[in-house]
Amino acid sequence: MIRPRRLRKNIAIRDMVRETQLDSADFIYPIFIEEGENIKKEISSMPGIYRYSLDRIDEELQEVAELGIPSLMLFGIPKQKDAEGSSSWQDEGIVQQGIKHIKQAQPSLYLIADVCFCEYTDHGHCGVMVNGDVDNDLTLTNLEKQSISLANAGADMLAPSGMMDGMIASMRDALDLNGHSTLPIMSYAVKYASSFYGPFRDAADSAPAFGDRHTYQMDPANRMEALREADLDVEEGADILMVKPALSYLDIIRDLKERYSLPLATYNVSGEYAMLKAAAAKGWIDGEKMMMEQLTSMKRAGADLILTYHAKEAAKLLLRKSGS
Ligand code: PBG
Repeated sequence: MIRPRRLRKNIAIRDMVRETQLDSADFIYPIFIEEGENIKKEISSMPGIYRYSLDRIDEELQEVAELGIPSLMLFGIPKQKDAEGSSSWQDEGIVQQGIKHIKQAQPSLYLIADVCFCEYTDHGHCGVMVNGDVDNDLTLTNLEKQSISLANAGADMLAPSGMMDGMIASMRDALDLNGHSTLPIMSYAVKYASSFYGPFRDAADSAPAFGDRHTYQMDPANRMEALREADLDVEEGADILMVKPALSYLDIIRDLKERYSLPLATYNVSGEYAMLKAAAAKGWIDGEKMMMEQLTSMKRAGADLILTYHAKEAAKLLLRKSGS
């Protein structure tokens, strides 16, 4: 008789035949930097995740580096917002300052800057509004300015999340023409219009003041369109593709993994984190086990890199497991 259970008999053999291994080197930890002083404010729907001003951030940076998490995704919360989000491309903007600060405080950390406008616009949409909708091509012009400014500040990688058509091509051109031809772009290539972003919008003060993001982010029902979006970004020169959110879109992660040879990232978003934390706080689930199971499922589906608010906790568990 064929008995698959033979290879599940004890922990040694289970470890030996395990197909998917999580590794802290694959984690990217999102971090919220707020303009101002003396800020360390927990986000109510994301326990354990804080907004920091730069004068209070060093301890967090040190912890991330010591845990072996190689990279941060930076989000900024500016003091000033306006219709176009112009504080996002100021050389003294909050993320620009943040990059310079972190490069001094923890030079080993690889800094990926989110490139978008929703945290910087007074209406909370991801670009320039014309007649009640985000104007694609006007937004591209601003995206170029923001990209050059973040690159000049010393970002190691840029990650545009606004789902504008042609965003990768226009950023690539702008970077190449301004001395940044070696700077990679990780595209939020397949980003769905998802209700799982709710807690992030509290975290980053970026909820749209009116309407929604359905004219630029993708319909959660669509799969073929995800391939078309990714095809375009590959053609336009993206270096890494991302699928976002992660858990309800594991099929899309698998589709992209099979179709492209580029590294693939997925974003385990705020709502996914909040659900797990809420259920764990009630004692309804085992939060640590469920976290590791979810992260493993993302990797098994095909994600090479995982952006996750769980990065520190998961890295701690992995260190404990390896006995170091
Ligand atoms: C847009 C952006 C969003 C997230 C990352 N980048 C929010 C949105 O599109 O509304 C969401 C991340 C999360 O939910 O954790 N700059």
